[in-house]
Amino acid sequence: MAATLLSPARGGTPLTGRAARAVAELGERAVLCDLYDEAGAPIYHDLAGTTPHEVRELLTALRRLPGAVLDLAAGSGRLTFPFLGLGRDVTALELSTHMIGLLRGRLATTPPSVRERCTPVRADMSDFALGRRFGAVVLGTTSISLLPPDARPGLYRCVREHLAPGGRFLLTTVEVDAVTDGTDETEIIATGRDGRGYRMIEQWSAGDTTRTVTMVPVEPPADGPVTVATTTIGVLPASQVIAELEAAGYAVRSLTPVPGGGRHHDVLLEAEALR
Ligand SMILES: C[S@@+](CC[C@H](N)C(=O)[O-])C[C@H]1O[C@@H](n2cnc3c(N)ncnc32)[C@H](O)[C@@H]1O
Repeated sequence: MAATLLSPARGGTPLTGRAARAVAELGERAVLCDLYDEAGAPIYHDLAGTTPHEVRELLTALRRLPGAVLDLAAGSGRLTFPFLGLGRDVTALELSTHMIGLLRGRLATTPPSVRERCTPVRADMSDFALGRRFGAVVLGTTSISLLPPDARPGLYRCVREHLAPGGRFLLTTVEVDAVTDGTDETEIIATGRDGRGYRMIEQWSAGDTTRTVTMVPVEPPADGPVTVATTTIGVLPASQVIAELEAAGYAVRSLTPVPGGGRHHDVLLEAEALR
């Protein structure tokens, strides 16, 4: 029988299949963590923290929208820094103290002329009040899918309260194709900037409302603990996000496919608050 282990992300989604086997092979050495906690944040940053995915599309949209930018779920600043490169003031809102710590560390090594235009804020994107409005609020990297359904109305309300007249909410979401070999799993090898390889195992069955992604080092050290990072993410088709936005008083003004990879198809939505 396949081992079933609980991932710490999202309160214990079971790890099954390849991810569970990989953890079982490591035995007591395996230390499971969330991808955005103290142990996982450096792995996220190493693997994805500076990739250019979505950057071109978001910068194109932002060039049409004057004013300050609010970067939601900013992480270690993958999108924040290109937004600062446009010469805008950017507020980077992030929930994880460890991810925002990485962002602060990167800002500390940035010239003051850039650093002074960035305001990191630790807050929950579904419940925040910054006391100011922005020309654009961005939620990239399909991070809306990290919010459970009951938290998304709070996101839509907070974004509306922070948009300046004429401002836009730019967000991306992802559609996932089913795996055709019947395993409901995919695996790629991802190499971080420091050259370390990770097995990136994704578990998702067509129709499931969440998918789980697990990172296992390809070459674990000969002894000692081995960090295995997991995250459980909602699968939110663009049609569902559009319906939710419209119910929350937005009009979706454009929908742009973002070139991506494999079975993931990202879509950039541009929404305007009507009331
Ligand atoms: C996929 S990462 C994206 C980070 C960054 N935007 C990037 O492109 O690399 C998602 C981020 O959302 C953060 N996050 C998760 N839930 C959040 C919430 N409720 N409010 C704010 N940030 C949250 C995580 O800590 C993580 O840093």
